[in-house]
Amino acid sequence: MTNDTYILAIESSCDETAAAVVKNGREVCSNIIYSQIELHKLYGGVVPEIASRKHIEKVNQVVRQALVEADKTIDDIDAVAVTYGPGLVGALLVGVSQAKALAYVSGKPLVGVHHIEGHIAANYIENKDLEPPFICLVVSGGHTHLVKVADYDKFEIIGMTRDDAAGEAFDKVARAIGLGYPGGPKVDALAKEGNREAIAFPRAKVDGNEFDFSFSGLKSAVLNYLNQCEMKQIEVNRADVAASFQYAVTDVLTQHAIHAVKESGLNKLAIAGGVASNSSLREGIAEACAKEGISFYHPSPIFCTDNAAMIGVAGYYNYIKGVRSGWDLNAVPNLKLGER
Ligand code: KG4
Ligand code: ZN
Repeated sequence: MTNDTYILAIESSCDETAAAVVKNGREVCSNIIYSQIELHKLYGGVVPEIASRKHIEKVNQVVRQALVEADKTIDDIDAVAVTYGPGLVGALLVGVSQAKALAYVSGKPLVGVHHIEGHIAANYIENKDLEPPFICLVVSGGHTHLVKVADYDKFEIIGMTRDDAAGEAFDKVARAIGLGYPGGPKVDALAKEGNREAIAFPRAKVDGNEFDFSFSGLKSAVLNYLNQCEMKQIEVNRADVAASFQYAVTDVLTQHAIHAVKESGLNKLAIAGGVASNSSLREGIAEACAKEGISFYHPSPIFCTDNAAMIGVAGYYNYIKGVRSGWDLNAVPNLKLGER
């Protein structure tokens, strides 16, 4: 026996069936992701019922592969961690049931993990020196949050979106300009051929909390622009639309994040979630951080998208703090950050 701690983690909150083995909260021994994207592409977005069914089909295989690639058996594992919210209820239930069954039969502790806590924890994998406190901008398909990470298990929401999530805006605009699902990476690629100053799309200001976001007005502005072009029979330069839209989103995200870091007095900014792979966002934040003397942290794209390694990392920090879930652990589709 060694003093090392191994977590087997399972993630199934949306359209990725994933399992991983993580050592001591920082080292990824295996990270298996079965992506359902090709299936959902046919429908232009994630179909919850299809996602659940596919998770059931794949979860056993993905878990087995994670153990084999890590060269571990369930006996070597210290705890089983699983995402229990937020997400699609049917999809979450598959991972939760699998984790409960595995933990129960093997006599291992079960640790329920918040999906966003996992996204934030993805930053610890490659940035070995990163420790709380820091500010994290979480931008995914379902969430846009500015979070003060006070400790590994303490989160304070500074700002959030009032309507669409950043990733949702990318996906909707991508559909409007005929790029298909998932839109984020396609807008990112096409924007490289366009001029981000070509169209002046609005930067939404929201009343009340200066750190909150709003993207639905921007999405409508893009749709209006496309309609007007059609009415006036002007040919749309899709690369310019992609670049100008992307700039409008990433500009606001960057400004708010930098402002939050300066206000907090903390000198560290991390980003997380699917949209954290966006090249324009990474460049914009890196540039602003360099100018302001702020340390900037981000995961590699494979740890930005939904994966189980990040759940293993968050699971580890919960596990060593003594967090244990009961056999009645349930899927909580609208679980709030910091809640148990
Ligand atoms: O974190 P994630 O994999 O799943 C959720 O928890 O939602 O995020 C998926 C979102 C999708 O909306 C996708 O279009 C977006 O992240 N995304 C991107 C990029 N890669 C993925 N958005 C902008 N640029 C990208 N390169
Ligand atoms: Zn996610």
